[in-house]
Amino acid sequence: MKTKLRWGILSTGRIAGVFARGVAASQAGQLAAVGSRTPAAAERFAREFGVPRAHGTYEALLEDRGVEAVYVATPHPQHAEWAVRVAQAGKHILCEKPLTMNHAGAARIAEAARAHGVVLMEAFMYRCHPQTAKVVELITRGAIGRVGLVQATFSFHADFDPGSRLWNKALGGGGVLDVGCYAVSYARLVAGAADGQPFANPVRVAGAGLLHPQAGVDAYAAATLQFANGIVAQVACGVGLQQDNSVRIYGSEGWLHIPAPYQPGLVGRAVIFLYRRGRDAPEEIAFDAPPLYALEADAFAAALAAGRSDVPQMSVADTLGNMAVLDQWRAALGLAYDADQA
Ligand SMILES: NC(=O)c1ccc[n+]([C@@H]2O[C@H](COP(=O)([O-])OP(=O)(O)OC[C@H]3O[C@@H](n4cnc5c(N)ncnc54)[C@H](OP(=O)(O)O)[C@@H]3O)[C@@H](O)[C@H]2O)c1
Repeated sequence: MKTKLRWGILSTGRIAGVFARGVAASQAGQLAAVGSRTPAAAERFAREFGVPRAHGTYEALLEDRGVEAVYVATPHPQHAEWAVRVAQAGKHILCEKPLTMNHAGAARIAEAARAHGVVLMEAFMYRCHPQTAKVVELITRGAIGRVGLVQATFSFHADFDPGSRLWNKALGGGGVLDVGCYAVSYARLVAGAADGQPFANPVRVAGAGLLHPQAGVDAYAAATLQFANGIVAQVACGVGLQQDNSVRIYGSEGWLHIPAPYQPGLVGRAVIFLYRRGRDAPEEIAFDAPPLYALEADAFAAALAAGRSDVPQMSVADTLGNMAVLDQWRAALGLAYDADQA
């Protein structure tokens, strides 16, 4: 029997626990170790999620010979340092979104992964869900005709709290990096699918938004993306505003509404509504899939088993294109972080 991919979890915050549960529910992965900046947090996490080994430093996790792949789930500004160090330790990397603060940092991680021959994936878990694959298939086979417009939002309101990573500039706060990255990645996925490609990069990006007066990061923002194939995408995000968090894709023969595009089956029902021109009621395409983060762990393991250098659902080239758009969107808002000076 094939052995399971042995995961190390780097950090012990909110999403690290969610992913640990995903690995435990996966077909091809198993939890091996966790690393934290503090031994107490590592031990608490190991107890809560049934992780065999707890390390009181991230370095000790990277030295753990029983760990093959590391899931990096620190705040965004720490992703670059630790993802590069994971690569240097010869372990595969699943790093939380956004891969890092900007395109330049993402390119450094990509280069480290290439140089050390390890798999790299930015953890856009929604790409691994069958609902997303179905959206791509519907577009590719022309179910809504020629696609013209994509609308994608991802936003929530968190009360202003300078201690929270969402509002703290030094911790990469603001909506564009935290959730705008999803909306941009969905729009790029759809624009690519219209041409039978895994993604497309826009030729023009125009953005606007509101910088929070105390935090100095975007409370909410919107952008328009123009693609070479004529598709236009409107994306919006925020950490200080409620939005409907859906994707709508409009074509010449109908349109798709995806009410839970990013966390299908977890936050909202996994379902696509297909509206065809001339028919009142939409066709409903529903999904009963395994847990979202288990799918992500299994997609990663499958790519590794297939000898790939990255994961087809979210390739490194796709990540670099996404980061470039986020850079342009932030530039339009006048939003720069310390990492942009590096
Ligand atoms: N894919 C998804 O569904 C999803 C959902 C939420 C968040 N995320 C991403 O995952 C990352 C973490 O988000 P989160 O909500 O889990 O954050 P969080 O709850 O604040 O946890 C972050 C963890 O990072 C570690 N850390 C390292 N350096 C830190 C520093 N300087 N300040 C604070 N913590 C530090 C800490 O773990 P130790 O104390 O153990 O070292 C901390 O618990 C972000 O990049 C975010 O974009 C992804």
